[in-house]
Amino acid sequence: MSTDLLYLADSYQKRATAKVLEIGELQNQTFIILDQTIFYAQGGGQPADHGTITGPQGQLEVSHVSYNGGQIQHKGKLSGELHVGDTVELAIDWPLRYTHMHLHTAGHVLDQAVKNVIPGVIGLDGNHGINGKNYVEFDQEITADQLPAIQQELDAVQTAALPISTEMVTKDELDERRVRLPFDLPTNKPLRIVQIGEYEPMPDGGTQLKTTAECWPITATQIVVKDGHFRVLYQVTDPAATAESGTATSETKTKPRSATQTADLPDEFTAAVEAIRLTLKTPQVAATTNYFGKKGLFSDVAKQLKELPPESRRSAGQLLNQLKQEIEQTVASYGSNQQTAKVDVTLPGIKPKVGHMHPVSQAIAEITQIFERVGFTRVRYPEADWDWYAFESLNMPKNHPARDEWETFFVAAEPSSTKGKLVLTPHTSSGQVREMERLNSQPPIRMINIARCYRRQQDATHTQMFHQFEGLVVDKGITIQHLKGTLDYFAQEFYGPGTKSRIRPFHFQFTEPSFEVDFSCHICGGTGEVRRDGETAKCRFCKSGWHEVGGAGMVHPNVLKAGGIDPEEYTGFAFGWGVERTYTLKEGLNIDDIRLLYSGELRFLEQF
Ligand code: PHE
Repeated sequence: MSTDLLYLADSYQKRATAKVLEIGELQNQTFIILDQTIFYAQGGGQPADHGTITGPQGQLEVSHVSYNGGQIQHKGKLSGELHVGDTVELAIDWPLRYTHMHLHTAGHVLDQAVKNVIPGVIGLDGNHGINGKNYVEFDQEITADQLPAIQQELDAVQTAALPISTEMVTKDELDERRVRLPFDLPTNKPLRIVQIGEYEPMPDGGTQLKTTAECWPITATQIVVKDGHFRVLYQVTDPAATAESGTATSETKTKPRSATQTADLPDEFTAAVEAIRLTLKTPQVAATTNYFGKKGLFSDVAKQLKELPPESRRSAGQLLNQLKQEIEQTVASYGSNQQTAKVDVTLPGIKPKVGHMHPVSQAIAEITQIFERVGFTRVRYPEADWDWYAFESLNMPKNHPARDEWETFFVAAEPSSTKGKLVLTPHTSSGQVREMERLNSQPPIRMINIARCYRRQQDATHTQMFHQFEGLVVDKGITIQHLKGTLDYFAQEFYGPGTKSRIRPFHFQFTEPSFEVDFSCHICGGTGEVRRDGETAKCRFCKSGWHEVGGAGMVHPNVLKAGGIDPEEYTGFAFGWGVERTYTLKEGLNIDDIRLLYSGELRFLEQF
């Protein structure tokens, strides 16, 4: 079983809980494997996270994390004891991770900046902090005199405040979207791409910032030639870290670029500077704004300098200088972007993702159509309904023990004086008497009621919310034969020709006689046996030849009476069972845990 990588979806998650799946010793260290993790396993140039994993009786001080074929190994020193099955609290060293994120995203921004300067160049490799090295490696010659242009692009991408998005993909989608692959992708990892603004997406499994506006200032420092490839080295500077505290990141000694002290400046002054910075974020605005003219925005704030108290003038001057540079660089980069914009209109576009109906909705649509073809009408009734409809009218008076089978959620609402408490409908049978009322107690009734149902239960084959479909037919002379015929019809339409239904005696309060309904297994054709490796073997899918799906029976006279129908004149049948269960038995679906249907996990849902 592989570890669920929570950081792929949310790189900002700092805490989580998980279950311990395995514990072992390795090179005098303890390693543990969890069902899910927020710890980044070293790879893709990004260093591993550090942090702690704390259980009820001990703690692992995590000093390294490795990928190990999808089973993430958290290694470190254990104090106390951890046990398989423990629920543990995960906490990553956030300042360290956040620095790694800055370094990694900076690598992608640099990669893009270099591509903007040298069209057609291919990024081959990168390192974002492992062993203190930060660089991106390219296939074509890059010379030191190109550094200023690269720097200008770096600054432009940062000031443009481009969104950075990530997305899980399949290998085929990568091809379809024409994502260029400069290197062989690992085949044992989930595939993800990262995209900066509208630039070409890149394969990436690291933790990324949300926008280039969040990036600490990035500086391209040096070109180094290695094995015929060209590396652009870079640094990022945490503006919050002061030069002497030594916590500035990425082995940098440069002064933080936005470290100008603004605390002693009047608010109006800093607000005016920020307002100008804001205009730089949108190309159209920046391109049309008057900054340096007579009535220019910049000239305006510059005038305020004289009015400031002498002791603030120095830092105000620094701030203005910095702003001036930002304006010049931004305007120039927008200008140069326009001149050099290279749009190849013949390239096929990126195909937008196409969604589809959720598998449960697909099943509901199919079931509805099957019954509509033989004259049933699809109806829907309240999901929170009175006790009367859910139980009492179905021949289950208050305190009747049969009610226990429907582990019911009660709603904390004012009860009705005639219809009792409000419940979340535990089955679609609550629609039976409602349907009789809707038709003013005048059969014929041919109802198919498909709705959400709720019960207090949750495991691999049950979810607290699920769907049922309920058939109800009431007319003169309706017999078990009609019920059996309807079940056979549905079995063949839904599972394919040759599928049979079987009814077995059972008990429900609201039907008499009552049955459980089985469908023959379409893998073994109802025999319970298959030929495997030339021999007769038990069918693994059903084990007995049949699948139990739900309940049915002839409507109890008391139920007809509750709906105002004379049981002497009319008879009826009803059946009801779960949509999810019915659906997951379909051939070849192989869904063994129905909770997956509600996980919202696209990699699962996209298969259907
Ligand atoms: N409502 C029953 C259940 O939830 C199923 C059923 C429906 C049985 C209609 C008989 C008739 O289990």
